[in-house]
Amino acid sequence: MKDKILVIGANGQIGTALIPFLEEIYGEGNVIASDINNPVNYTGVFEHLDATKADNLSAVIKKHDITQIYHLAAILSARGEADPVWAWNINMQTSLSVLQAAREHKLNKLFIPSSIAVFGPSSGKEMTQQNACLEPSTVYGVSKVATENWCSYYYHKYGIDVRSLRYPGVVSHQSMPGGGTTDYAVDIFHKAINGEKYTCYLKPDTALPMIYIDDALRATIKLMEAPKKKITVRTSYNLAGLSFTPDGLYQNIKNITSSFEMEYQPDFRQAIADSWPGSIDDSIARNDWEWQPEFDLSRMSRDMFFHLAKHKAFASQP
Ligand code: SER
Repeated sequence: MKDKILVIGANGQIGTALIPFLEEIYGEGNVIASDINNPVNYTGVFEHLDATKADNLSAVIKKHDITQIYHLAAILSARGEADPVWAWNINMQTSLSVLQAAREHKLNKLFIPSSIAVFGPSSGKEMTQQNACLEPSTVYGVSKVATENWCSYYYHKYGIDVRSLRYPGVVSHQSMPGGGTTDYAVDIFHKAINGEKYTCYLKPDTALPMIYIDDALRATIKLMEAPKKKITVRTSYNLAGLSFTPDGLYQNIKNITSSFEMEYQPDFRQAIADSWPGSIDDSIARNDWEWQPEFDLSRMSRDMFFHLAKHKAFASQP
């Protein structure tokens, strides 16, 4: 039987890029997009879905004979701090609805991502290990630590094949991120391509783990397609792409557009960034399912410019 895939949080930064990628692999009719908000430019099959409501989720699964779910909806680190209890409720209710639905409907596989936000000041700053101490500083991080443990619980207790990656900050051109601490690394490109000055909310030397969208999508599919016996981590895999600082990225963009200017006005997100690692040890992913990132800083910057320039040219067509 062909897999039928439901993507929850389809309008978000990763969903927007992942859906065409999944459609190419599994066929257009076999990927169902869903989100709490209606999509702007999506022409495929779409379901309006509040995934905190288990009954609504069940109805969508039945309607489309869903066999796999990619659950990408979450309130991220910076946004979550404005209303921690609300963020906790959304992040936990959606994840538990998905896990429970997988059990009820006997789904083949689930993807529920985690994040570098699970790490905190006690996790170690450089080449942070898979089994580092997890004492996060944000409610987003707290909810992801809990979700990772629920994933492991559902695997061990009920045999649900749920897989997960601790995504670094994702840099992408397909859509804007929202509410994260790593969002500056996307915002900066939009300013640069429009010839505007960028005001960065992190200090110039704040190194953070990041990943370019092409690598993030490749890692996701590689993990999901790996034979079950290769998956040795049932909480969530450490994943690394590249690491850079705001100043490193600025210098890199200046090599492409020399008149670009940036200034710094750190805000509350600085403390969140300071609590996270600067780099990640992802050797278990490399060993288990042959993970290898392809994009370094200059290749990523050139690719971002190329795609954003294309979007801009398209948007300005009469
Ligand atoms: N991009 C996320 C955030 O900044 C981290 O995974 O919240």
